[in-house]
Amino acid sequence: MSDEFVTRSLDEIRFWSRIMKEHSLFLRLGFRCEDTQLIKEALEFQAIFEDIERRAHAYPSNTDPQTIRDFNTEVHTAVTRIWAFKRKVLGLILTCKLPGQNNFPLLVDHVSREANYFRNRLEELNTGRLEPLPDAIIDENVFFLKIMADHAKFISHLLDPSERKLVEQAREFSNEFDTLMFQAVDLSSMRPQSQTVPLLSQFVDENRVSVKSLRDFKKTARDLIEECRIKSIIHPLLADHVFREAERFLFILDMFDQSLSGVKVNKREILF
Ligand SMILES: [Fe+2]
Ligand SMILES: [Fe+2]
Repeated sequence: MSDEFVTRSLDEIRFWSRIMKEHSLFLRLGFRCEDTQLIKEALEFQAIFEDIERRAHAYPSNTDPQTIRDFNTEVHTAVTRIWAFKRKVLGLILTCKLPGQNNFPLLVDHVSREANYFRNRLEELNTGRLEPLPDAIIDENVFFLKIMADHAKFISHLLDPSERKLVEQAREFSNEFDTLMFQAVDLSSMRPQSQTVPLLSQFVDENRVSVKSLRDFKKTARDLIEECRIKSIIHPLLADHVFREAERFLFILDMFDQSLSGVKVNKREILF
């Protein structure tokens, strides 16, 4: 069990600390030159999460669980701080204190939601209180479908308006994921009666098909941006960042699919 705890903790921290490091970079690039204090804070977070990422990769999988428990607590504190920074920036933007800065309010809110997600994962790992599978399936989908819908919106707004076909494709993804997200909210509201194996596995399958095509679209966009073949104000690292987050969601959906097929064999109908 402790091995599983160490492996899962390190996996979460390796993935999300890189994400937090990149958020600091994106926020910094969006600030105005005169916002030197905010730029300084963003640079500090970039260094903090770079260090966390490096250490997470240095720990071997047979590290003492207590060491990892302490590490999780330390990372949790850093994530809480970057979450508060992101919410502070959102407040400044929404009260028009940073006129002309370049981060969309929805993007700042989005990156704060990702920090909050990371923080919750660390709490779940350290307390050992994992959600029951049927709840995890609905909650993770509600969270990630909104994340995916947001990404499609960022892409459509950051592409050059003259890239008409790509903008249109991104808008279609945005609509598709809004719809999927509302379906997930509907399923959530019908809990616990909606948590049957047939409904949940159909839900996971349907979402997986859409996430795969969004993932492929992001991969294409990333390659086109890297090769300088399209016009946009998307940082190449942002294109790669949203691609990796789609891959993460797919990985989680695959895990759910596997668990549900196990349940199907054992229990057939209702999970609880
Ligand atoms: Fe992100
Ligand atoms: Fe994201």
